Amino acid sequence: MKNISVAIDGPAGAGKSTVAKAVAKKMDLLYIDTGAMYRAVTFLVLKEGIDIIDEQMIIDIAKNTTFNFSTDGSEIFINGENHSKEIRTPRVSEKVSLVSKIGDLRTVLVNAQRKLAENHDVIMDGRDIGTHVLPQADLKVFLTASVEERATRRFEELSKDNQAESVSFDAVKKNIIQRDSIDSNRDQAPLVKAEDAIEIDTTTLRTNEVVEEIIKLIRKIQR
Ligand code: CDP
Repeated sequence: MKNISVAIDGPAGAGKSTVAKAVAKKMDLLYIDTGAMYRAVTFLVLKEGIDIIDEQMIIDIAKNTTFNFSTDGSEIFINGENHSKEIRTPRVSEKVSLVSKIGDLRTVLVNAQRKLAENHDVIMDGRDIGTHVLPQADLKVFLTASVEERATRRFEELSKDNQAESVSFDAVKKNIIQRDSIDSNRDQAPLVKAEDAIEIDTTTLRTNEVVEEIIKLIRKIQR
């Protein structure tokens, strides 16, 4: 039987990974967090002190890095080491969209993402999944929420991780607005809703309501 693929796209902090992870668990799908891969490369770039204009070095890093995920998709292993927390620091968030603009880097990561998805029922989240990584996905969802709500959610997440001391709510909001702008205006595979994607505005919805809505949509395509 053909494998099922679900694409979840949307702007920063719209709740994609929380929702995708929960849907994956309930529907027994493999969850692939593509943002974690762009963050992982950015983490390595910062760790090695590489200048963002040195594109070839960044592409080489991505080519020579192995990315593995824990079974539930929530932890990322970069060259075998768990760096799930370090990739979500405000420092990485500040630079990740600039790194993600590099076209040839995207090609390397997209190939790796398609490989991870091979022969599995998958749910993959990111910015270009429905438009570019899995254009034949059986279901495409575009999650949105107001900027205020997205910044609030992200700030709360950082507070839980004890990282909020290093950043203010306004700085988190500014970063989200900046990233959305860079992600939407880049040349290769920008953030845009696929024509055939179903948009869900999550501003006033609880996580479980969004999860249930997506599960309903998956059940429809399984029929
Ligand atoms: O979790 P959040 O919405 O903040 O972002 P993320 O999914 O972790 O992605 C971090 C950044 O990676 C985004 O702002 C994009 O610059 C980049 N990204 C991308 O370009 N394409 C993807 N498929 C996923 C992420």
